[in-house]
Amino acid sequence: MKGKDENHLIKVLFLGDIVGRLGRRAACEYLAEYRKLEKYPVFAIANVENASHGFGLTQKNYKELSDAGFDCFTSGNHIWDKKEIFNYIEEADKLIRPINYPKKTKGEGYRIFETANGKIAVLNALGQTFMSPIDSPFECFKKYIKKIKKETPNIIIDFHAEATAEKICMGRACCEFGASIFLGTHTHVQTADEKIINNMAYITDVGFSGVKDSVIGMEYKTSLKRLVTGMPERFEIAQSKLIQINAVEILLDTKSGTALDIKRIMLEKDYQEAKK
Ligand SMILES: [Fe+2]
Ligand SMILES: [Fe+2]
Repeated sequence: MKGKDENHLIKVLFLGDIVGRLGRRAACEYLAEYRKLEKYPVFAIANVENASHGFGLTQKNYKELSDAGFDCFTSGNHIWDKKEIFNYIEEADKLIRPINYPKKTKGEGYRIFETANGKIAVLNALGQTFMSPIDSPFECFKKYIKKIKKETPNIIIDFHAEATAEKICMGRACCEFGASIFLGTHTHVQTADEKIINNMAYITDVGFSGVKDSVIGMEYKTSLKRLVTGMPERFEIAQSKLIQINAVEILLDTKSGTALDIKRIMLEKDYQEAKK
């Protein structure tokens, strides 16, 4: 039984970019198992920019992941890849897209969720280094963390960016602004630098959930052909049935917005023998 002082502790589970059908399946199954075993209440987030066949998110897949029990979805540069997103993003109340798109861009850049243990805000932004032109994430973080802090001390950031140094630097800045958790995504490769910086949980990149024997979720041969010929070869999603789950779990004190612990999760699921 939990002690009185543990009543405001929760576990934040964050899954790195889910890629494709088997990535979704493994993610949903993993979340169900995780919730069963975890003693603290769980707030589950997943980055879904590649969830539908590697590119974007269909409404059907949004519903599937939502029904599986995820509380919030973050995204990134691939959020617009399935054009139907324009028709449903306004109603998708668990989904956020990067906040540093222009003002008239559809969707929300952050959301505040009511939980039994208090309000939790999730904020998503894109990096600028080796990425398409976009508004300054630094200015957005500064502005919106200040604004959100008036409502809740619990602020979780998914910084979707390519360059390691940009993520480290922006993580330190967000720690100074008062964020609780700062997680990098986009490279699909999990980094081994999880840590607590003052009271904020940090990792440069959470990694991805999808086919393990692949080039960040995509098939090797077409990826290589693109590199070797420089021609715009269509990426194909990898088909092997050995799936990796990359995630982090954070113990968060929701009363103060303090991250107490962060652990990396890197595991495999083999669907080779599965019937469907
Ligand atoms: Fe991605
Ligand atoms: Fe991305």
